[in-house]
Amino acid sequence: MHSTETQAQGVPKWWHTATGYQIYPRSFCDSNSDGIGDIPGIISKLDHLRDLGIGFIWLSPVYASPMADNGYDISDYMAIAPEYGTHADFDRLVAEAKARGIGIVMDLVVNHSSAVHHWFQAARAATDDPVHDYYVWRDPAPDGGPPSQQRACFGGSAWHFVPEIGKYYLGFFSAEQPDLNWQNPHLRREIYDMMNWWLDKGIAGFRMDVISLIGKDVDAGIFEEGPFLHEYLQEMHRETLAGRDVVTVGESWAVSPETALLYCGRDRQELDMVFQFNHIVEGWDPVHGKWKPRPFDLVAFKRVLNDWQTALADDGWNSLFLSNHDLPRQVSRYGDDGVYRVQSAKMLATVIHMMKGTPFVYQGEEIGMTNVRFTHIDQFRDIETLGHYADAIADGVAPDDFIAGANTNGRDNARTPMQWSADTQAGFTTGTPWIEVNPNHSDINVAADRSDPDGLFDYYQQLIALRKTHAVIVHGQYQPYAKDDPSVVAFTRVLEQEKLVVVANFTGAQLQFHVPDGLTCKGQSLLSNYGPRDALSGIVTLEPFEAFVIAS
Ligand code: NOJ
Repeated sequence: MHSTETQAQGVPKWWHTATGYQIYPRSFCDSNSDGIGDIPGIISKLDHLRDLGIGFIWLSPVYASPMADNGYDISDYMAIAPEYGTHADFDRLVAEAKARGIGIVMDLVVNHSSAVHHWFQAARAATDDPVHDYYVWRDPAPDGGPPSQQRACFGGSAWHFVPEIGKYYLGFFSAEQPDLNWQNPHLRREIYDMMNWWLDKGIAGFRMDVISLIGKDVDAGIFEEGPFLHEYLQEMHRETLAGRDVVTVGESWAVSPETALLYCGRDRQELDMVFQFNHIVEGWDPVHGKWKPRPFDLVAFKRVLNDWQTALADDGWNSLFLSNHDLPRQVSRYGDDGVYRVQSAKMLATVIHMMKGTPFVYQGEEIGMTNVRFTHIDQFRDIETLGHYADAIADGVAPDDFIAGANTNGRDNARTPMQWSADTQAGFTTGTPWIEVNPNHSDINVAADRSDPDGLFDYYQQLIALRKTHAVIVHGQYQPYAKDDPSVVAFTRVLEQEKLVVVANFTGAQLQFHVPDGLTCKGQSLLSNYGPRDALSGIVTLEPFEAFVIAS
């Protein structure tokens, strides 16, 4: 135990000190030239991840799937997608990762299955089949139309008609992703058995896809954080997770600082962490959502992150991230992917990794990969982008306007292949990639970055290593400063006699920063993306995107 605060948060866990790394298998490394990343490809790159220092991989879905949503539509929960490999490959991945001190955290996608799952095929064929009730069916409205006006996340109605049985099923994301009916106890049992089967293989935990949707009350129009959610999560915990030393992170687009501890409070026996998106959605248009980003507002962004740090200060635990496979590249969104690409990417990493919680790095972030600039809708592959494109065109939106939005905030930005080298296809494949590589791979790639001592990889290595040696980074109390400053992020972390001062200039301009009293310090430079800084007082000049950590 390091402090009373740690005691309040319970026994220190391995994942408090670890850094997670997300792999989107389709885009990571292709070993057999079919243009699609695969598990042997991941194994071939494990040394890269060991060198980075990560503690676990969050592996996006590798299960059998028709890939309508690149694996977030599972047709067999206990099979590996043939294009990704075999069970033998998967077992080798777990073993080889473990040999490097890395756990494998699987993606659990159980709000919905694929429409080609044998459960759904049987369910749609006969209403008296016991698995019919594994899905959410409703009769048509009196006019024969859908039971409600609910829209699907990926465009169109959320209700999909099956003429053979005269009923609609709920596909909250898309027709290819029918929602599972969690109110059916047999379905829940099948899911728990499946989870135990994977856990018994020695995986390190689960990231749970859109988990806050499973307690929905469809007829009341409640989808997120519905009335049955926590009952099911507690049952799941009892039946699968209890007594195992694994990590769980539940994805929720609805969770707020007010509801977070219902999931991850120490007395709840549900999850270890949530992936919350309040800081992401803060940058979206209130009406048009992600397709029309609003100008970045640092004060609002800090307020959201501060609220989360405060809400989970003594109980629960934060996940820390700016990127994943659904989000734009962080350096393009929050930094500068032009002249200050490296400096701004280091600044963003400093802020995230120095907050209290477990940081997650998304593949390619460690070398500062950027958004891509597609010019034609045919270049996009994402079901969400294509579904909303169809809706937007029907609403009279000009294709180029939609594409501009998709290039800014669309999901394919994160899904262009990992840039390993300056070679053709970025060293990702020797075939034709399933989605185009970003042309900037000639400059931005692992080989180039890792050979540069001032590169990003080296900086991430330092950040990840520091958390293993400095308990204050893991457990220290968080105190924000300069909350209303529109350009600078500043906070301290304090653990007993140890104190860290973190300052970051979020702009591409040189500026004068009036150091608030609580930040005045003299100490030792722990990390910085310009020259070392070991003291702070009065008025200091911050360089564009400068960030530093002083231990005092
Ligand atoms: C969230 C996942 O991160 C996203 O990629 C997916 O499309 C939806 N859930 C539906 O599974």
